[in-house]
Amino acid sequence: MTWLITGGAGYIGSHVVQEMVRQEPVVVLDDLSTGRADRLPQGTPLVVGSVLDRELLDRVLAEHAVSGIVHIAGKKQVAESVRRPLHYYRENVDGLRTLLEAAAAAGVGRFLFSSSAAVYGMPDVDLVTEDTPCRPLSPYGETKLAGEWMVAAAGSAHGMATASLRYFNVAGAASPELGDDGVFNLVPMVFERLTADESPRVFGNDYETPDGTCVRDYIHVEDVATAHVAAARRLVEDATASLVLNIGSGRGVSVSEMVAAIQDITGRHDLSPVVEGRRPGDPARVVASADRIRRELGWVYRHDVRAMVTSAWAGWCLRHPSART
Ligand code: WQD
Repeated sequence: MTWLITGGAGYIGSHVVQEMVRQEPVVVLDDLSTGRADRLPQGTPLVVGSVLDRELLDRVLAEHAVSGIVHIAGKKQVAESVRRPLHYYRENVDGLRTLLEAAAAAGVGRFLFSSSAAVYGMPDVDLVTEDTPCRPLSPYGETKLAGEWMVAAAGSAHGMATASLRYFNVAGAASPELGDDGVFNLVPMVFERLTADESPRVFGNDYETPDGTCVRDYIHVEDVATAHVAAARRLVEDATASLVLNIGSGRGVSVSEMVAAIQDITGRHDLSPVVEGRRPGDPARVVASADRIRRELGWVYRHDVRAMVTSAWAGWCLRHPSART
């Protein structure tokens, strides 16, 4: 059986492709707006195009006899979604709807959806479970929650086994070549500052947390990829599956702790972080309960913070040779 992986040429998508292709044949659909064809394993079929192109989707699903879809393609910058909400609804919601329509018409039996911890907004709990109320604070988070509803409803109506996977804070790389090109999250943003010989910025240290800085659940991208393989296997085994699963570690790490780990691994103790004002919309703490995914799939994370930062730094230095002191 062949899996179609949308967004498979992207940072997270290419890690999922690398794991999935070990199990089953894969075909990738990617518009290369942020993805790179050279992220793909040799010989992986790549179709360049958008999930909004229904004719293209019908053709790819038929030509490759696709029986499962992993939908990762989408826009994922929170701040950009606030500036361009309709662009995010078009790409993330209309794109998903078009893909689901094509999947239903082609009789695709399995659908994995890339969702996000952003659906929770500002959860006021120590550990976020999948039953924690979802109150997204950004159009990005709204599109992911609406996507989960569409996937579940389409799965029920059209006989698809489905799973929506809520990624927490993804970092690291399986190899330097697969490192995150984007500079939109803490780890690459700190790398960028250090490379410019500027102090890392800490957005607020007056939160109700042990050291006053925000706490997040950082998860290695390789662990995210193995979670997709485990979920795909479950959808093959259980044609009636309809799952929503956190992909996190259950381990909270503060901004200060992450910055200290980055300074330690990069050797840049010369540039101490500077505290700036809070970033609007930042919750003090968002840490996953990973009980359900362990119970449902037998999956647990395997990489620690040092592995994430070390592998992310190797990727950064490959793309920014001047970074290595
Ligand atoms: C983490 C913490 C910042 C940069 C977002 C999305 C989420 C997911 C991950 C896609 C925050 C602080 C950051 C810096 C800092 N994306 N920070 N200095 O906001 O937790 O989550 O990305 O699914 O859906 O919402 O991630 O990495 O932007 O920030 O102090 O230079 O680091 O304020 O507290 P976030 P982040």
